[in-house]
Order: sequence, then structure tokens, then C-alpha cells
Amino acid sequence: MSYLKIENVSKYYGDDLVLENVSMSIKKGSFVSILGPSGCGKTTLLKIISGIEKVYKGKIYLKNNEITNMPIYKRNVALVFQNYALFPHLSVKENILYGLKNKKNTKEEKENLLEEIISIVKLKDFVNRKVNELSGGQRQRVALGRALIIKPDLLLLDESLNALDRELRIKMQSELKEIQKKTNITTIFITHDQEEALKLSDEIMVMRDGAIVQRGTPKDIYEQPKDLFVAKFIGEINVLGGMVKSVKEDFCEIDMGGQRLFINPHKNLKVGQAHTFAVRPEKINIWNKEKVYNEGVIEDITYKGNMEMCSVILQNATKVKLMMQNMDDSDKIKKGDKIKFAITDSMFFGKEK
Ligand SMILES: Nc1ncnc2c1ncn2[C@@H]1O[C@H](COP(=O)(O)OP(=O)(O)OP(=O)(O)O)[C@@H](O)[C@H]1O
Ligand SMILES: [Mg+2]
Repeated sequence: MSYLKIENVSKYYGDDLVLENVSMSIKKGSFVSILGPSGCGKTTLLKIISGIEKVYKGKIYLKNNEITNMPIYKRNVALVFQNYALFPHLSVKENILYGLKNKKNTKEEKENLLEEIISIVKLKDFVNRKVNELSGGQRQRVALGRALIIKPDLLLLDESLNALDRELRIKMQSELKEIQKKTNITTIFITHDQEEALKLSDEIMVMRDGAIVQRGTPKDIYEQPKDLFVAKFIGEINVLGGMVKSVKEDFCEIDMGGQRLFINPHKNLKVGQAHTFAVRPEKINIWNKEKVYNEGVIEDITYKGNMEMCSVILQNATKVKLMMQNMDDSDKIKKGDKIKFAITDSMFFGKEK
């Protein structure tokens, strides 16, 4: 049974259609991320769910109750923005309690809730500290605390980790996931960071131009993108166009305008078809013993800690990126080296235009 259900929701700003027939359903307790290019309607969708914006058409149900036109304060939904909108001169306690401003809790209930939340967001030692005297990560936790104190049915996070530097962001990702698991709160999380989405989510929704183009587990989205847009949007990918020249049991041969490329076997390819092929850099094997291989010259190597990204240039000047484990210096390949590489996995999409 779905916990949050959105049915054919459309939204205009003036004459601009920014959400077009969006439908989705989310299970209780799940962590769903929304990814998509800037301006595709992610924030608008969260605003509609929270009630800040009205829908043009369509329906929204939360826990089987229709909330489409319910005022914000009657929906038990919390929305945390990127800038948190905290009161800098008020204390942690005052900021968190502000979440209850529209609720009719007794003083004692408020104190109990505060104590519970402070412990969940780990701010015990900072209760009376002013927000402008806190670090970025602590502020983030205050914002979460203020959202969680109402015991929301839904937690909506709009790029909420953006203000943090990389190290802190990674730490807060784990904390956020831990809090989400502990409270079992159904969460929708907008992020521009694909790695973050892949790591945290039970499901990812990819949006484009006001519509959801694909929805699935992180693994589905990464390994079985529905189209080239999703493939390119999530993770690094090589996009290569060509015509199928031969389909054999252990390889396929592609003609990329005079340049031959051997890829892994695909049963569904037919000789003569033109396609766009997409290959993840980690699906290219340079230390291979394969009989059928491609050749190229290392044009550039980018150091990435435990991995290195190599740009290989083929004879017809096509560039292919491949990922390599950072090995001992002795077996390392260098810029200018001629290499052999095998494509161990690839995807193909529609006909090339
Ligand atoms: N209040 C508004 N009035 C008019 N147009 C708006 C308003 N808010 C957003 N838009 C437009 O609606 C479209 C969707 O905006 P939205 O903020 O939902 O995008 P987004 O996917 O969240 O983008 P980003 O990743 O940059 O935050 C954009 O074209 C934006 O310019
Ligand atoms: Mg936005």
C-alpha cells in the first residue's frame, strides 16, 4: 500500500508548465531521492507536497487521506531547505521548539519532545548555544531537529546538505541515514550529488522537464538506465555512436565511421543497425587477457585517490575514458603509452540520429 501517492499532478507558474502529469507512490519508511537538472521541477514538487504551492490539476494522498488542497499547517509534513532558515540569534532549543509553533502541546509535552529530538540529532551539549555560534554540521542538525520535532508524516529535504564542505557532508550523510532509519520517517531528498543519492536511497527518481523519467533502486538506475539522458546524468559514461558490423558469441564489432570497436556480446544487436553505445569507465578492462581487444594511446591520467581515470584516444581521435585501480608504480601505465583494452559491458540505446 502506498503511503504517499501523487496522481497526475500538473503545475503552472504563469504560462509555464513546470510539472506535467507527475504520478508516484512511496512506501512508508522509505528514503527516496530526486535527481534532475536544474529547473526540472524538483523543488516545485516538494513545495506542492508540503502545501506551499497549489497544484493546477491532479491529486495527492498521504496515508490514504487526500491532502491536495489541505492548508500547510494541517498537513503533518516537514520541509527543510538548503539554507535551513534558522534564527541565528536564538538558541538551539528555541530554534527546535519553533517547529511546534502551530501545535497545541503542553509545556511538559514540549520539553519531552525536545529532549527526545535533541538526543536523536546529538545536540545535548549545545542546547542553549546560539545558532550563529555553531558549526555547519551542527546547524544542519538543528534544522533537522526543528523538522523532526513535529513528528512529521513526511520529511522533505531540498538540497539540505549543500551548505556543508565535502568531509562534513559525508559525515552528515551517514547521520541523516541513521536518523532516518531510527525514526523510520518517510523521506524525499533532493540532491545534485549523484553519489549521495546512490549511497543513501532506497529508490531514486530521475526528473527531466517536469516529469519523472525513471524510477528505481540505485542499482537499477545506474546499471539499467532507461535512456541516454539517465545514463549520462548518473555517473560517468562514454557515449559512442556506431553501426553494428558483426555479432559473435563472445564479442560484437561496431563501426564508428571507419574506426572498429569491439564490445561485449549483445544478443539483441543486429548487423547493420545504428545505435548509440554507452560504456561506464569501470567496465573497460585494461589488464585483460581477452583475445579480442581495442587499441589506443593514453592521452591523460587523472588521479582520483584509489582510482585513476584515463583518457584513451583511438586512431580516429575518439576519446574513451576508463577507470583503473591505482596500482604500484612499477606496473603503472603512463601518458603516451599504447594500450590494449577490452569493453566488458555496455548499453545501447535507440538509433543514432
Ligand atoms: N515562484 C515561481 N514563479 C515562477 N516560476 C518559478 C517559480 N519557482 C520556480 N519557477 C520556475 O519553475 C521551474 C522549476 O523550478 P524548480 O525550482 O522546481 O526547479 P529545480 O528542479 O528545483 O531546480 P534547481 O535544481 O535549480 O533547484 C524553473 O523553470 C523555475 O524558473
Ligand atoms: Mg530546487
